[in-house]
Amino acid sequence: MALYSEKVFDHFKNPRNVGEIPDADGVGEVGNAKCGDIMKMYLKIRDNVITDVKFETFGCGSAIASSSMATEMIKGKTIEEALAVSNKDVVDALDGLPAHKLHCSVLAEEAIKSAVQDYYERNGIPYDKSQFPVMEDCEHCGEHEVRMV
Ligand code: FES
Repeated sequence: MALYSEKVFDHFKNPRNVGEIPDADGVGEVGNAKCGDIMKMYLKIRDNVITDVKFETFGCGSAIASSSMATEMIKGKTIEEALAVSNKDVVDALDGLPAHKLHCSVLAEEAIKSAVQDYYERNGIPYDKSQFPVMEDCEHCGEHEVRMV
């Protein structure tokens, strides 16, 4: 069996929704302190629905494929539906990732959550903080590190 599925290759070679939304309603940036990869997610939100989403990923092919798939999965969905997307959902939608690459899909899930959290913060919307990962500054490089609680 090939290490990577056709879908992973497809999303890696032709990533969907790449770029920046300058007037985004929520922006999330997460990084993996170990590999140094960074993912940024931009959301446009109207009436609780994600009307547009774009991403920039400075990372490996699996991270690019994961973020591309994640954007397709949340576009047109409500905030609650987007928050319910787990890294496992992304991996399943990609027809799997090798075990040592599963952490790359975690970046996609956390980028979505981080962007929604930013939207809540900007708009003064109360939310359950326990739904979101703790963001910490990595002591080595100053980049954000994601830690699940
Ligand atoms: Fe770092 Fe894939 S190796 S996100």
